[in-house]
Amino acid sequence: MSDNGFHPPQRTLMGPGPSDVPPRVLEALARPTIGHLDPRFIELMDSVKSRLQQVFLTGNPLTMPVSAPGSAGMETCFVNLVEPGEKVIVCINGVFGMRMRENVIRCGGEAIVVEGEWGRAVDPEAVKEVLDAHPDARHLAFVHAETSTGARSDAETLCALAREHECYTIIDTVTSLGGIPVRVDDWGADAVYSGTQKCLSAPPGLSPVTFSERAVEKVRQRKTPVQSWFLDLSLVMNYWGEGASRAYHHTAPVNALYGLHEALGILLEEGLENAWRRHALHHEALKAGLEAMGLRYVVPEEERLPQLNAVWIPEGVDDAAVRRRLLEDFGLEIGAGLGDFAGRVWRIGLMGHSCNRRNVLFCLSALESVLAQMQAPIETGVAVEAAMAAYADA
Ligand SMILES: Cc1ncc(COP(=O)(O)O)c(C=O)c1O
Repeated sequence: MSDNGFHPPQRTLMGPGPSDVPPRVLEALARPTIGHLDPRFIELMDSVKSRLQQVFLTGNPLTMPVSAPGSAGMETCFVNLVEPGEKVIVCINGVFGMRMRENVIRCGGEAIVVEGEWGRAVDPEAVKEVLDAHPDARHLAFVHAETSTGARSDAETLCALAREHECYTIIDTVTSLGGIPVRVDDWGADAVYSGTQKCLSAPPGLSPVTFSERAVEKVRQRKTPVQSWFLDLSLVMNYWGEGASRAYHHTAPVNALYGLHEALGILLEEGLENAWRRHALHHEALKAGLEAMGLRYVVPEEERLPQLNAVWIPEGVDDAAVRRRLLEDFGLEIGAGLGDFAGRVWRIGLMGHSCNRRNVLFCLSALESVLAQMQAPIETGVAVEAAMAAYADA
């Protein structure tokens, strides 16, 4: 690194996040820092909240960005809702479900695990069986879009099951928000968290969360204080809450919030439905190209996330060497496998601003070139054509 500061290289980000940040957001981040209690900043906070409500499709007054990344949003939901001794049914079909279980244990809760196959959606039948077997369970927790595998679970059905069994729902929408429908109010979801660096295309570091009125009521009725001071919503609400006194809680990440505000504005200008359609369209084209090359998807078609394309690494191919060549020769980042899938799977993201035709065609050509040079067992000369044909058919 030179003494002139850090100048990051220009990359194309097609991994599991962060995604490419649009120039409008970068420009917003560079605007002058003002005080976090400045009346003009309070206006911005109100607007961020309103935009988040529109994106989460909720009227929940307690909707705000936690000042830390997605993992802190996850932790906010668990530490506030789960009291010691409470039973939480946790669906695990990948890495992030495992982290949910860890959160339950650290809250002093009892985690009842519904173990699912990696690369598959959470099975509602299996969840129903466990809910039936544990009528005293208080919560159901699951990941809507499992970034470690590319599987999409049926949040609407899972929320309905939870309601029938009088459970609160804790839902991870870190990778889903902005890429596929997240309908907090229609689902009747209780505690939902997300991240900024996936389909919202703001830099990492903030975690939008939203709590239903009944979830807020449960937090108010807690018998024990929340073990985390920073994430205790009863304190944070005095800063972010409806009609709040805007009492100092922590120094808000002022410029990061300018960036999130702009990113949400871009998404709302496009329209949620158009953004969902865009993710589906480019996924179809990428899929056509990857499959023409001979790569196989991990997740069955009807359970796939458009924004996270997990494919098996062809036999005998050196995972790390391919990703290094893509990064060094093409400036292209794709994701490695996580957990059980490390070394076996690539995760190609089509998230937010990164989800466009140019990137799809670029990724297919770059991957084909690197794999062909390594004499990997793939079809050459067909991927881009297949993607173009998919676009023509759309
Ligand atoms: C599904 C899911 N949940 C939680 C997280 C954690 O988010 P962060 O890395 O921003 O803390 C991620 C990050 O990739 C994720 O994909």
